[in-house]
Amino acid sequence: GVTRHYQFDIKLQNVTRLCQTKSIVTVNGQFPGPRIIAREGDRLLIKVVNHVQYNVTIHWHGIRQLRSGWADGPAYITQCPIQTGQSYLYNFTVSGQRGTLFWHAHISWLRATLYGPIVILPRKHVPYPFPQPFTEVPIVFGEWWKADTETIINQAMQSGGAPNISDAYTINGLPGPLYNCSSKDVFKLKVKPGKTYLLRLINAALNDELFFRIANHSLTVVEADAAYVKPFKTDTVLITPGQTTNVLLRAMPRAPNATFVMAAHPYATGPAAFDNTTVTGFLEYERPKSLKAKSRKLPLLRPKLPKFNDTAYSMKFNRKIRSLASAKFPAKVPQKVDRRFFFTVSLGLRPCPENQTCQGPNNTKLAASVNNVSFVLPNTALLQAHFFNKSKGVYTPDFPSNPPIKFNYTGTPPKNIMVTSGTKVVALPFNTSVELVMQDTSVIGAESHPLHLHGFNFFVMAQGIGNFDPKNDPAEFNLVDPAERNTVGVPSGGWVAIRFLADNPGVWFMHCHLEVHTSWGLKMAWVVTDGKGRKQKLPPPPSDLPKC
Ligand code: C2O
Repeated sequence: GVTRHYQFDIKLQNVTRLCQTKSIVTVNGQFPGPRIIAREGDRLLIKVVNHVQYNVTIHWHGIRQLRSGWADGPAYITQCPIQTGQSYLYNFTVSGQRGTLFWHAHISWLRATLYGPIVILPRKHVPYPFPQPFTEVPIVFGEWWKADTETIINQAMQSGGAPNISDAYTINGLPGPLYNCSSKDVFKLKVKPGKTYLLRLINAALNDELFFRIANHSLTVVEADAAYVKPFKTDTVLITPGQTTNVLLRAMPRAPNATFVMAAHPYATGPAAFDNTTVTGFLEYERPKSLKAKSRKLPLLRPKLPKFNDTAYSMKFNRKIRSLASAKFPAKVPQKVDRRFFFTVSLGLRPCPENQTCQGPNNTKLAASVNNVSFVLPNTALLQAHFFNKSKGVYTPDFPSNPPIKFNYTGTPPKNIMVTSGTKVVALPFNTSVELVMQDTSVIGAESHPLHLHGFNFFVMAQGIGNFDPKNDPAEFNLVDPAERNTVGVPSGGWVAIRFLADNPGVWFMHCHLEVHTSWGLKMAWVVTDGKGRKQKLPPPPSDLPKC
């Protein structure tokens, strides 16, 4: 591989959407941010310089960071933030993966405006395992708030209520004509009849899973989270925050002077209010020269998307995603398991501080937890504390392997849904083979949670609705071609089982990729200790690693 250099200047930029101008935090003044391109095997050196008054970190979402955990980016997990006027050089090599990923800020809610695509091409002269596209186009979904996003989350955290929902969804930063004052801010994909396009779909939205469809066209899914899958055709793609999906779009052989609408709206089952608007863009066919400019345009037809709460569709779609599992791209599914974990992922409540009024039920604050632990970020970075053996007072290795209160989804919800707080981790010896079942609870309404794991890809062994049954469900586990990913939706009122091999020493964050749930505490960390060999140890931190 080669070494590729990028510089990310974090600076403010005025951007106008929905007829209002606001100053947002950007990389190099661009919104959405610049695209990073590399080939499998390349080294990336990305210098991030912070020119704004906020603390910043950048995460390379889905990059495995093999023995390069210092470059992973989540604030207070692998690094202290880059403060105003400071810089940090992210240094990592892309190995063993190719496809679409994305980068985003990993502190507070700054990723609302700080995000962009990562495109990892196969090694030189290595073709895709599917028809070579004519060209490739990133399609990045986001959310837009008229208000300042930092203010929104700060208000929510102080009041204990739900944060304001966004004012629009966006495709490549553009809300599209269904929103007021947005008829010109529309994403247009221009295509030539008969050609094949690779669309690199990225859900960078903060709080919403999305259904996406293009009118009158079907899509062939060929990759998910930078791992090839067995190609399958679909009309609608479901994509959760943190997921990336590559699809092939074949333009109609003859479509003179026609425009088709592409649209995305949320998949949401929760009781909380969500932005139920629709973002649209246009798929425009190049006009054949033989046609006069004034020929009749076909009417614009909006594609029909599944209902907001269509969990059946969501389950069906997710089950179609299977590893390619070919000779060239085998699925390395762990066949034996060293340690089993069962995590409940839930919303809950915490007490309102004295002399304060809170907006949660019965004057409480909304919270979220894994096994009833609402994770508290420390004041220093966990990875430094671990590496220098200074965990005392920073974190404790007593994260529960099982829920403290036996959980029964079909039973009456527990009366006490107050969370406990702590900075607790699970310590894993190098090369532990882990099986983890995550169960959504109905404690405050059933809701799907897109869980994201840093540092690893995992295999999705099975998923189901209702209670996970440890006696019978493991018989259904897919040991042959399960989806390999970094983000999976824990089904609303259901469960998902994953496996991964802890072959990457460091501290690895796991959290719901709905930013509001992460803020409320739906997060935890795995500490993977060094192995014996030189290639099984995490090297010391770079000298410019930010200090807290
Ligand atoms: Cu995409 Cu921890 O994040």
